[in-house]
Amino acid sequence: MSEHYFSARPEAASAPRTVRLTLPDLDLELATDTGVFSAGHIDPGTRILLANAPEPSVRGDILDLGCGYGPIALTLAHRRKRARVWAVDVNERALELTRRNAEAAGRGNVRTATPDEIPDDVRFAALYSNPPIKVGKAALHAMLLRWLPRLLPGGAAYLVVQKHLGSDSLARWLTEQGFPTTRLTSERGYRVLAVHSRPDPGDDPCTNSAAPS
Ligand SMILES: C[S@@+](CC[C@H](N)C(=O)[O-])C[C@H]1O[C@@H](n2cnc3c(N)ncnc32)[C@H](O)[C@@H]1O
Repeated sequence: MSEHYFSARPEAASAPRTVRLTLPDLDLELATDTGVFSAGHIDPGTRILLANAPEPSVRGDILDLGCGYGPIALTLAHRRKRARVWAVDVNERALELTRRNAEAAGRGNVRTATPDEIPDDVRFAALYSNPPIKVGKAALHAMLLRWLPRLLPGGAAYLVVQKHLGSDSLARWLTEQGFPTTRLTSERGYRVLAVHSRPDPGDDPCTNSAAPS
């Protein structure tokens, strides 16, 4: 049986190579390897996310959820040089590649970590992800419900998901969970979703307004 890209310790023999990430604002050669997602080329969904997702609208840490070899984390770290960018994955080979890619690019603001290594008090101004749809709906939902509540007020998550892999039903489900979700763009069968942090009840103008004098 072929190995999943989300194995914690891929067993496939290492076969290092590089791919080129070329965007209007950066050009990077990234190390990749067997056993990680899209090892032979930058995934088209990742490219569409990076071309369309806005930069964070509030200040704070940034999360690349499911970083693979790091194209999203490194791009955000380049665009937001003063922000700390957490590159998180369950695949140790992917984390090591991201660490090396960040070092080679001189991006000291990237921190690689497994999900359990992120301190509980860290909150995120923005989350970017090409999420691991292949883990199955229950695991995907659990992963999103673990991290979305950690968005700062005014923060947002940007997810790229293929239409035929359920982007529209995921958007509806996220909205039902209390994370208002809109479609930012639709391109070549991929949707980029913008998921907003849960509105803070304290911000409700009906409950928060000063008593009339
Ligand atoms: C579709 S790949 C995207 C990789 C990379 N961001 C890219 O754009 O090339 C999704 C990644 O999520 C990781 N992943 C799977 N389950 C995860 C979890 N529970 N927490 C964090 N990352 C996870 C996988 O190992 C994989 O590297």
